[in-house]
Amino acid sequence: SLSPIEKAKRAAAHAASEAFIRSGLRIGVGSGSTVKYLVDYLKEQYGSGELKEILCIPTSFMTRKWLIDSNLPVSDLEKTPELDVCIDGADEVDPSLNCIKGGGGCLTQEKIVQNAAKKFVVIADSNKKAKFLGEKYKAVPIEILPFGYVATQRFIQQKVGGECEMRLGPKFFPTITDNGNYLVDWKFPESSVATDWAFINQQILSIPGVVETGLFLNVAETVYFATPEGEVDIVS
Ligand code: A5P
Repeated sequence: SLSPIEKAKRAAAHAASEAFIRSGLRIGVGSGSTVKYLVDYLKEQYGSGELKEILCIPTSFMTRKWLIDSNLPVSDLEKTPELDVCIDGADEVDPSLNCIKGGGGCLTQEKIVQNAAKKFVVIADSNKKAKFLGEKYKAVPIEILPFGYVATQRFIQQKVGGECEMRLGPKFFPTITDNGNYLVDWKFPESSVATDWAFINQQILSIPGVVETGLFLNVAETVYFATPEGEVDIVS
């Protein structure tokens, strides 16, 4: 049986799916352990014939594999550049529904797929709910090009302070994203949490070598937070 946290993730995924998933939709499918329950839901509904003519557009290698293994119809942004809805997890969400994402390293594809969707819906266990961005999750994941990666990290630190930490794999290599790039976790200074995240995001994005950040600002339209008891808090 599922642990309390897994029950919460499943409850959030199911509540959002019941509200937003319909036959005929082009669906962006996020990444991470909460999204796995969305894939399970789609598999069950599509497999039983309840849900028809959907297209699933994954945001990572792993999600694509889950969809294929579940016999779900997979597409991509080349064939399907416009999506009806995208459902994804998050690492932290503030009261205005701004999110930090990229704990799983898929932030760039997640942001491209989110941007292609008319609606962006976030699913999370209620521990991810924060009073302000940066309250609990103390870093912003940033994808950077391997070329010049030390210089890029130094520029980030010079421009916005804090400290960049290379995301390393379990063995002797750096973590490589689905796009062949590196990841840094930017440990922002305490002063950042009091500042304008949109401004900070623009500053980071303007540095050569930076591909994308895990700051998803002003894009989520609804967030489903759930507890292990199955209580779902819907914030719009
Ligand atoms: C992946 O890069 C992330 O943005 C995930 O969406 C986020 O880390 C949530 O993952 P979990 O659902 O596993 O907590």
